[in-house]
Formats: sequence, C-alpha cells, structure tokens
Amino acid sequence: MAKPEIRLEVYKGERQLKLIQPLIDKDLSEPYSIFTYRYFIKQWPQLCYLAMEGDECVGAVVCKLVSVMYNSGKIYRGYIAMLAVREDRRKNGLGTKLVSASIKSMIAQGCQEVSLEAEVTNKGALRLYENLGFIRDQRLEKYYLNGHDAFRLKLRLAPLPGGALFHLQLDEDPWLRCSSHPISCLTCRFCRMAQGVMSAILTGIRKRVAMYF
Ligand SMILES: CC(C)(COP(=O)(O)OP(=O)(O)OC[C@H]1O[C@@H](n2cnc3c(N)ncnc32)[C@H](O)[C@@H]1OP(=O)(O)O)[C@@H](O)C(=O)NCCC(=O)NCCS
Repeated sequence: MAKPEIRLEVYKGERQLKLIQPLIDKDLSEPYSIFTYRYFIKQWPQLCYLAMEGDECVGAVVCKLVSVMYNSGKIYRGYIAMLAVREDRRKNGLGTKLVSASIKSMIAQGCQEVSLEAEVTNKGALRLYENLGFIRDQRLEKYYLNGHDAFRLKLRLAPLPGGALFHLQLDEDPWLRCSSHPISCLTCRFCRMAQGVMSAILTGIRKRVAMYF
C-alpha cells in the first residue's frame, strides 16, 4: 500500500503534544521537561508545526515570538526552540518545510529577526539553516549540558530601529562605519564601504522575505 502523503499541520491541542515530545526528546542535546514544551506551545501554538504522515508525527518545529527593546525602539524577535524530523524521513526537505512554515508565520506577525542555537557539530541543522539565509552570529562555548559548543544563528528579516542591521557593537567592525561617524557620512571611504555593505544586506533581506511568500 502506498504511504500517505506528508502534510504540515499547525498545532491544534494537547493531544498533539504527546506526538511531538517523544520525537524531539529522542534527538536533542539535552532533555526538556513537559513545562518547557508547554511554555512554548501554549503561548505560541500558531508557531508550532507538525509534519503528519497519516496519524504519525514524523517532524515538528516549536518556536516563539516576543517583542524586546532594541536601542530606543521595540523589535519582534522570533526564536526556533526545537526542530526534529524522524530519522527515516530526513534529507527529503521536510526540516526545511517546517522551519519555512514557522518563519512565514513569524513574518506575518511582524518578526524582524529569528535566532536559534545549534551544536557546532550538527552538520544537518547548520546546512538547513544556512540554506535559508541564517548566519553564524556567535560561538557559545560549552553551551549544552553535554559540554558541546553551539553556534547562535540569526536570520535578519528587516532593519532594526535606528537603521542598524546588526547587534554587533559597531565599533568592533570597521566595515560598518568609521569611528568618527556614528551614522554614515557618505563621504569618507569607510562610510561609503559601510553603505555598500548595508545596501547589499538590505537587498538580501528583501530577497529572503520574498522567498517565504
Ligand atoms: C536537522 C534536521 C531537522 C534536518 O531535517 P531534514 O528533513 O533532514 O532537513 P532537509 O531535508 O530539509 O535538509 C536541509 C539541508 O541539510 C542537508 N542535510 C540534512 N541532514 C544532513 C546531514 N546529516 N549532513 C549534512 N547535510 C545534511 C540536506 O542535504 C539539505 O541541504 P541541501 O538542500 O543543500 O542538500 C534533522 O536531521 C534532525 O531532526 N536532526 C536531529 C534533531 C536536530 O538536530 N535538530 C536541530 C536542532 S538545532
């Protein structure tokens, strides 16, 4: 008999938590309590997607979206907390579909950037996220209980308040501006370079947002 098609479903209720939890627990670097699952899923059910094959859950993604202060403004920051695809269904684009569905939903709610952590050795996850436009923002030493390091990955979807495009201290990065000009002056070599970098990044952001629609 032919296998049923895999369909994506947005989270509907507690019954589905019983499907998601064993799938995710099996693979993640550290155990999550039921309270952690509920923290995310109860507050942001619209950002939790399941990949269903008949009655079986073969993949899931769990996220949140919060508003945080950034400089003098507020930004909406998405966070991908959990992602797993059942071993026998991997490398078929399912992980990418789950993440894309949740990011699309975040964008619809005004999300400006998305972040997550992944183990530095997790080739599959790093490839998946980098294919979707995420960049390695930071290396976090001994981030997991098993002592492994993580990369914090970020996807920029819109410029941040004040025109800034990065959380980096701008002084640390000579490519972003010259030390004497807090805002690009457009006349010196460094500021012109920074403008070039910024407009390339803005074009990238537009393309990435378009990719989800
Ligand atoms: C990471 C995970 C979700 C990927 O799911 P998936 O359905 O296999 O992902 P996709 O099929 O969409 O693959 C996305 C890309 O990653 C690549 N990829 C997937 N697994 C890979 C692996 N083990 N090694 C190298 N590349 C891999 C795919 O080839 C594809 O890249 P391509 O299109 O350039 O060829 C899955 O491996 C998994 O559940 N792992 C265990 C849990 C986990 O690590 N979660 C992430 C926590 S941050």
